[in-house]
Amino acid sequence: MACTTRVLCCDPSSISFPLDSPLPEYSSEETRQAIQSAADQLRSLQTVAFPTETVYGLGALALDSLASSRIFSTKGRPPDNPLIVHVTSFSMLQSLLPINYKLPPTYQILMKRFWPGPLTLLFPRDASKVPDIITAGQQTVAVRMPSHPVARALIAIVNSPIAAPSANSSGKPSPTNANHVLQDLGGKLNIILDGGPCEVGLESTVVDGLASDGHLRILRPGGVTVEQIRTVLKEEGLDRLHQVLVHKRDYTDEALEAAPTTPGMKYRHYSPSIPVVLLRHHSNSPPGIIPQSKSQYFLSLPGTEPKIGVLCLDDSPLGKYVDISNDTRFIRFSLGPSDDLSIAAQRLFNGLISLEQQGADYILVEEMKEEDEGLAVMNRVRKAASQSEWIDYTK
Ligand code: TXA
Ligand code: MG
Repeated sequence: MACTTRVLCCDPSSISFPLDSPLPEYSSEETRQAIQSAADQLRSLQTVAFPTETVYGLGALALDSLASSRIFSTKGRPPDNPLIVHVTSFSMLQSLLPINYKLPPTYQILMKRFWPGPLTLLFPRDASKVPDIITAGQQTVAVRMPSHPVARALIAIVNSPIAAPSANSSGKPSPTNANHVLQDLGGKLNIILDGGPCEVGLESTVVDGLASDGHLRILRPGGVTVEQIRTVLKEEGLDRLHQVLVHKRDYTDEALEAAPTTPGMKYRHYSPSIPVVLLRHHSNSPPGIIPQSKSQYFLSLPGTEPKIGVLCLDDSPLGKYVDISNDTRFIRFSLGPSDDLSIAAQRLFNGLISLEQQGADYILVEEMKEEDEGLAVMNRVRKAASQSEWIDYTK
């Protein structure tokens, strides 16, 4: 049933967290009232959208099955895709876990160094506390402690864990500002808290460190990079015993691939309604593939004057080609410089959504190196793209 969606402004810089109180304080009355209204919605078992440092989330009370079920209906999310539970304190985390559960040493370090922040950890699930609908019946529950002041304040006020997937219709790009949420889910929820654009722009890194070998398995690359995790393990003297393994790059797991436990393994993801084409560099082409020359490829693009959305780094081969080509068919969206891929991470989803809104017929995205934030960017681009082409930019 359609409802009127209100977008309520919040100023993250007006929120502070006193050391001696679990509750936030506000220097802006508008922000206090907005977060209070969202908390009231949550308590009445409704969903609300709110900013996190990664992407906007669609939240509901995690420990209430009816409230959480509304996340699935609002997004059109398949019921076998589990949700991340968001907490604001270690005592809130503990309240979710089995009694007497002892954190692995790797988790203690990761939590000390990256929480609050864009890191999700898998924990054993206590079925008497965490409803089936959250974990899609699995034995683990994914938990993270967001750093965004609005997210922290909202969870602290409700004083209960909040389940929150990205606030987009299932299969669409994740929203990185309040307007993205409104365009996609407007009429399906009562309140969107607008805390401005998300700083990280891609979802949290999902880590499973529960296996008996003690290694950390990255199920989804995200806001905390693999390099950062490795560095921290090294600094803390844990790198000899505990490896960091990226799913599909460093290991495969048949059971995992059969279950839709991690984004994109079973379902379509991150795709706008228009086609997305991944442009790969000829230097990476496998034997047997003959890359197309750039002149041949761009001349052959379909239509007389389609609008071609282009998402690329400023100083990349495609970026340079677009700069000098005078081809009026291109609408360019910059992913920033190649020496700071955190900007590409921040802009990717906004680029996919904006180019579609600007009337592009399709979007070309150029591959980037899969290091630092580039690993997570390419993970999302691969899932968004329906096809890929190899291009030789030297010809
Ligand atoms: O940054 C984020 O993580 C954002 C913000 C809102 O916090 N949330 C987010 O949620 O990206 P979502 O639902 O769009 O993606 C979370 C993914 C799910 O697709 C699911 O596959 C995986 O995390 N996940 C959740 N619980 C899991 C579990 N128990 N085991 C393995 N993967 C799990
Ligand atoms: Mg999502």
